[in-house]
Amino acid sequence: MKTVYVLNGPNLNLLGTREPAVYGVHTLADVEQMCAAACARHGLALQFRQSNHEGVLVDWIHEAGQCHARGELAGVVLNAGAYTHTSVALLDAIKGTGITLIELHISNVFARESFRHHSWISAAARAVMCGFGVQGYALAIDGLAQM
Ligand code: DQA
Repeated sequence: MKTVYVLNGPNLNLLGTREPAVYGVHTLADVEQMCAAACARHGLALQFRQSNHEGVLVDWIHEAGQCHARGELAGVVLNAGAYTHTSVALLDAIKGTGITLIELHISNVFARESFRHHSWISAAARAVMCGFGVQGYALAIDGLAQM
């Protein structure tokens, strides 16, 4: 059984109470349940994690890379939060591991402030999804399952 890593960056632990007009009312625990259901539909295992720390996210991408090297990775769904717009370290980690990664944003970042329009991650992502709300996570897993 292959594994999907769903990695969440800073402030996503606040989902449900954080700017609900932008991110909706579902909690991160709700999102984990949606991802678990999507993985179960496709016969995939799930690693679902959140950290507010950039280096921890880098370590988890390396871990997913080791899973990839063993032939056991279906792919990674990464919502890097604000690190999307700042982190060359995450870009280098993705490039260095050769993993299949979907960059995900709950909100439509292109309809928001201009500093959110640039992503360091997109250049290394297989696909980029934004604006579907938290349902985007399940859609991203559906996409990985078909790759
Ligand atoms: C986000 C968009 C980012 O710009 C923001 O910093 C986040 C969440 C999203 O899911 O829409 O923390 O990645």
